[in-house]
Amino acid sequence: MIIAVDGTAASGKGTLAKRLATTLGLAHLDTGALYRGVGYALIIEGFSTQEITPYHAENAAKNLDFSLLDKPELRTPEAGEMASIVAAIPEVRQALLDAQRQFAQSPPEGFDGAVLDGRDIGTVVLPDADVKFFVDADLAIRADRRTKELINQGHAVMLPEIQTALAARDERDMSRKQAPLKPAEDAIMIDTSDLDVEMMVKTALSHCPQ
Ligand code: C5P
Repeated sequence: MIIAVDGTAASGKGTLAKRLATTLGLAHLDTGALYRGVGYALIIEGFSTQEITPYHAENAAKNLDFSLLDKPELRTPEAGEMASIVAAIPEVRQALLDAQRQFAQSPPEGFDGAVLDGRDIGTVVLPDADVKFFVDADLAIRADRRTKELINQGHAVMLPEIQTALAARDERDMSRKQAPLKPAEDAIMIDTSDLDVEMMVKTALSHCPQ
């Protein structure tokens, strides 16, 4: 079974994908981490957001070190912004496409399928996924959740800046030419504004064959 979970930044899609994978015994791939990994590699190389060229970004994507994708440094707002900048470069998307499809088609041993979360999983990466979700929530609620999460992890962040950064990232993700953020036609929409994690998971599971 293959499940696609797409949605806006900080909507809860990552949490949902992880929970679906655990409950249904499927492997999980956070595809945002791939783009964050590319962005982070460029930050480490000393590139600023204005200096990135498709050539450097494509190279960083082709040489992505998958063992670094769990690094906490990938979760910072700066890495998120860099991720959405490199994600608009077609060469980067192309370089990461095969790895994502490969993971879904041949999940790690012991798993019968996979859950992938991102922005274009149901529309581009896995258009034939068995179940597709599109997760969203009000911007102010997403900003509040993300601010608390980052503060809990020890980052000194303020709600207004996080809200502005999330809105800018969504706008960039929705307006790019290649694989823009949008629900697949056959996606099940889940608005998590008034749902806690358990309700969100329960709602999604009710749409999954078990
Ligand atoms: O989901 P996350 O916030 O970690 O994603 C970081 C960025 O990576 C997104 O803002 C988006 O630009 C990009 N991304 C993408 N396609 C995906 C997953 C993430 O363009 N499938």
